[in-house]
Amino acid sequence: MVEGPAVQARIAARLRAAGCVFAEDEAKILLDSASGDELETLIARRIAGEPLEILVGWAEFAGIRVAVAPGLFVPRQRSELLVRLAVAATPAGGTVADICCGTGAIAAAIARRRPDATVVAADLDPDAAACARRNLPASAQVYTGDLLAPLPRSLRGRLPVIVANAPYVPTADIALMPREAREYERMVTLDGGADGLSIQRRVLAQAVDWLTAEGTVIVETSRRQADLSMDAADAAGLRGRIEYDGESDAWAMAATRH
Ligand SMILES: C[S@@+](CC[C@H](N)C(=O)[O-])C[C@H]1O[C@@H](n2cnc3c(N)ncnc32)[C@H](O)[C@@H]1O
Repeated sequence: MVEGPAVQARIAARLRAAGCVFAEDEAKILLDSASGDELETLIARRIAGEPLEILVGWAEFAGIRVAVAPGLFVPRQRSELLVRLAVAATPAGGTVADICCGTGAIAAAIARRRPDATVVAADLDPDAAACARRNLPASAQVYTGDLLAPLPRSLRGRLPVIVANAPYVPTADIALMPREAREYERMVTLDGGADGLSIQRRVLAQAVDWLTAEGTVIVETSRRQADLSMDAADAAGLRGRIEYDGESDAWAMAATRH
């Protein structure tokens, strides 16, 4: 009876000493995931810096549990803002495309909240596409390839919503990221080029051909990159508006033709 909490407290103390901010929560998750030698191995790997989500194979995102896999981007809570904006912008029965989908967390959360919508997703990384297939309903198509290119041509001009959390870290800033990101997430998940916007600019430029006349493309951005995102929308012939969620310090831009 006393042993469970005591064991959890001891694990938490080891994690805290190693610098884990949410040591108590992480100890509970590890304890729920494994026991014996396997548990000890997971604790040692966590202390060595591996992301908890990769160790246990899942992450909580926007109220759902999504499978994650080594090397992939672990979904961040701030990206729930993209989910909320996409859900609000999707007309009844509309199709949402999640580009740069990674694990498919954003698409899966949209599918959960909007069962009437059709969700499609795509990522350049075949491992990400495979993971997204695990996380999405069987009815959702997942494609592998560059941005919107792998989507069926029949969707051109027919997408009311495109959502993309494309990589947006400036190349030089990757070295400043927490170790969990820079050592365990592939460069392709983070690197947005010199100012961080090189992939996002391509998403916005391509989106114009795939959106419906009233359609919206929604991208994640940051406080210091919000103006660059707005300029990129302008250059693509779109009108952007910045959305901010103070609770998660999340920044996004939603852009339309009008
Ligand atoms: C920041 S992660 C976001 C993943 C996911 N959307 C999320 O929020 O958890 C960016 C993703 O973009 C993918 N990616 C990078 N360049 C791409 C490209 N040119 N075309 C398609 N996907 C790309 C990466 O493989 C990675 O999965």
